[in-house]
Amino acid sequence: MSVVRLEHLTKTFPGGTTAVDDLSLTIGDGEFLVLVGPSGCGKSTVLRMIAGLENVSRGDVFIDDEQVTDWAPKARDIAMVFQNYALYPHMTVRQNMGFALKLRHMDKDEARQKVEETAGLLGLAALIDRKPAALSGGQRQRVAMGRAMVRQPRVFLLDEPLSNLDAKLRVSMRAELARLHQRYRITTVYVTHDQVEAMTLGDRIAVIDKGRLQQVGTPEELYRSPINRFVAGFMGSPSMNFATVELGGVPDRVTLRLGGQEFEVPGAVHRRPSLARYLGAPVVVGLRPAAFSLAESPGTATLAIVPLGVESLGDEKHLLFEAPTPGSSTTRVAADDVPLTVDESSGTQLWTAKVTQHADLTIGHPVPLAVDLRDAYFFDPVSGDAVAEVHDSVPAVQRELQAWTA
Ligand SMILES: Nc1ncnc2c1ncn2[C@@H]1O[C@H](COP(=O)(O)OP(=O)(O)O)[C@@H](O)[C@H]1O
Ligand SMILES: [Mg+2]
Repeated sequence: MSVVRLEHLTKTFPGGTTAVDDLSLTIGDGEFLVLVGPSGCGKSTVLRMIAGLENVSRGDVFIDDEQVTDWAPKARDIAMVFQNYALYPHMTVRQNMGFALKLRHMDKDEARQKVEETAGLLGLAALIDRKPAALSGGQRQRVAMGRAMVRQPRVFLLDEPLSNLDAKLRVSMRAELARLHQRYRITTVYVTHDQVEAMTLGDRIAVIDKGRLQQVGTPEELYRSPINRFVAGFMGSPSMNFATVELGGVPDRVTLRLGGQEFEVPGAVHRRPSLARYLGAPVVVGLRPAAFSLAESPGTATLAIVPLGVESLGDEKHLLFEAPTPGSSTTRVAADDVPLTVDESSGTQLWTAKVTQHADLTIGHPVPLAVDLRDAYFFDPVSGDAVAEVHDSVPAVQRELQAWTA
């Protein structure tokens, strides 16, 4: 069992790219931590520095309070599983899984027993004498996992291990990984660009953008209380919708204009005292796709939108429409006017609403959309930082303190 601690970890490649920028993070003993972020944000580089496969430009890696920054990979007692599995094609499952034990000069009988035990656990017993070419993608993935597991390393590093599998297999392998972790509790750092994998697997998730750590927290924390616009847009599928609006009204009754309509934001300032600073000023509002629903009829608290796309997912529909601007109501009303392509350079953004599968929607035919602003998020238009909510527990603590000091 092991704690991994990264302190000010930085990597600048010879060309000048800073792939990882001052990253500090502690992965607890037995924890499953997911590093998530868009492609190219530096995830693999972090993992490779933990493993010792990449030199560190600045900062340190500790395992159980031992500084291992300059240790050779082999000395760190870490096992890494790669996206492409990297199995030896000329070796059988048994040989692939036992290779690391052989390198370590483990007693032959003991090694054999370990390999067979692990193969059994992963449902590979019947395939143990096959070569990788005779295995399916999921089976190869399991061999790669098994090869890492037989060694019982102090730390497991997994780099997008499921991304080469088809969707259905990915779901079952995800569940398998979760079960394995529950059973062995080996400290794990799991890299993915897929926020669904991050949400479902992680005890905690660390979100990275452009080499910089944005936020670390439980899946729930990141989803409910994203620290900035990047995290808010990254966690959740489909993504959160954003618009720059001006807040009006008074602290007790805050309103915002969207699509030519005025909406009240229930409890806006009560829940986020610092939102008062934005009254009469621009602020970015964030609405998750589930904050919308189809309205019976156009009304004062609905947006008139024109569907530009309707995606049926079986048990729900995703409705794509042009992001409303604060002032004007939607002007496109005829199906003939619906553009075939949305040119991003023109600044047009698409919003997505998640609606019931029973919704009767046609591209180009306007529908009224109700917006639930109780679930609105707010961000500073310049910094992108969230205007944080004060959670119920805080006033409770304050009340308690007041009672004590009274
Ligand atoms: N060996 C290298 N030399 C130069 N640049 C690299 C090297 N490896 C990665 N990079 C760059 O570092 C950045 C982060 O890469 P990587 O860690 O692979 O990202 P991720 O795994 O999140 O997709 C990218 O811009 C990538 O092009
Ligand atoms: Mg990568």
